[in-house]
Amino acid sequence: MKKISQRALDIEMSGIRKFFQAAKPDSINMTLGQPDFDTPEHVKNAAIQAIHEGKTGYTFNAGLPELREAISEKFERENSLNYNPDQIIVTAGAGEALFIAMQSLVDSGDRVLLTNPGFVSYEACIRLAEGKPDYIPLTNDLHINQEILQEKISGARLLILNSPNNPTGAVESPENIRAIVETAMDAGVTVLSDEVYEHIIYDAVHKSAGTYGDDIITVNAASKTYAMTGWRLGYLAGPDEYMEQCLKVHQYCQTCATSISQYAGLAAYTGDQSCVKTMQDEYKARRDILVSGLKEMGVKFPVPEGAFYVFAPLGKEITSKIMDAGVIIVPGDAFGDAGAEYARFSYATSRQNIYAAIERMKPVFGED
Ligand SMILES: Cc1ncc(COP(=O)(O)O)c(C=O)c1O
Repeated sequence: MKKISQRALDIEMSGIRKFFQAAKPDSINMTLGQPDFDTPEHVKNAAIQAIHEGKTGYTFNAGLPELREAISEKFERENSLNYNPDQIIVTAGAGEALFIAMQSLVDSGDRVLLTNPGFVSYEACIRLAEGKPDYIPLTNDLHINQEILQEKISGARLLILNSPNNPTGAVESPENIRAIVETAMDAGVTVLSDEVYEHIIYDAVHKSAGTYGDDIITVNAASKTYAMTGWRLGYLAGPDEYMEQCLKVHQYCQTCATSISQYAGLAAYTGDQSCVKTMQDEYKARRDILVSGLKEMGVKFPVPEGAFYVFAPLGKEITSKIMDAGVIIVPGDAFGDAGAEYARFSYATSRQNIYAAIERMKPVFGED
């Protein structure tokens, strides 16, 4: 028997890939959490230029100074947050940012609050830091409730906040973000705010948690905003004391984010932002098609205000009938046991696919 660390044994492979891989060639795949758009042309060209100019060596561990400056300006412009470039670390996607934040802030046995259901990586990152995940149940409309939070907050080390949310598509209102952050700050609990879907938002307002408190780490990425998931470019920003420690962990696990991706990111953050709006408009149109299709079939669910997911309480039987009909979705227990009666549809796929999926689902709901 090979000896395996308890840390590794304590985590499992994400349940999402399993369903993605279960898709047959004629299935309509609504499992994936990534934009189906191509990376904008000017961003790709910046990377190609960087290659031709030989900008292919290591960069500073924390990232290119000009990129950190651009991200600092982005925080100011879009979020009204003041992070100086020294408080920003460029990472291999938001995934690495979450990992190094948890490694740097959480000690063995520390309690970390996260929602159930929630994004799959959080629990694994907590466990790999030997922290103790403590789950906050959501309300029926898939939001964080202040009273439930109040009951849990005392003595926790960290609270993970994710708005707009994966898997629910819920966006916490500015008032709720403020109340959540104030509750955490009053209890001396650090907030780790994952804002990767900030620009995939409809009829709602995104407020950064950092607006309302100081003991906050903001995590973000180019991945969803600029359709750059494969480039692996993200970042985290926070108080100097935290960033000094995060930089050490980052240095030893990653050295630096890919140089070429960083030049691409520089073009993304400093270039024309109209591509972001174009994608957002298309996601909104797709959301509307899926939401009205499901509603016409009698499915009841909270209409998502952000990200590119519908999280609907279909029950296990209907979920598996939908899969049998050739529409592959993710059963909600992949995101925590509280999601067991739900399923997640990703509408990061073409309108044509969404229309076809609705047609395939109609017989499941007794319509032809
Ligand atoms: C809420 C959330 N945070 C972080 C990530 C990871 O993003 P990245 O691809 O930048 O590592 C994802 C990816 O699906 C996500 O949904």
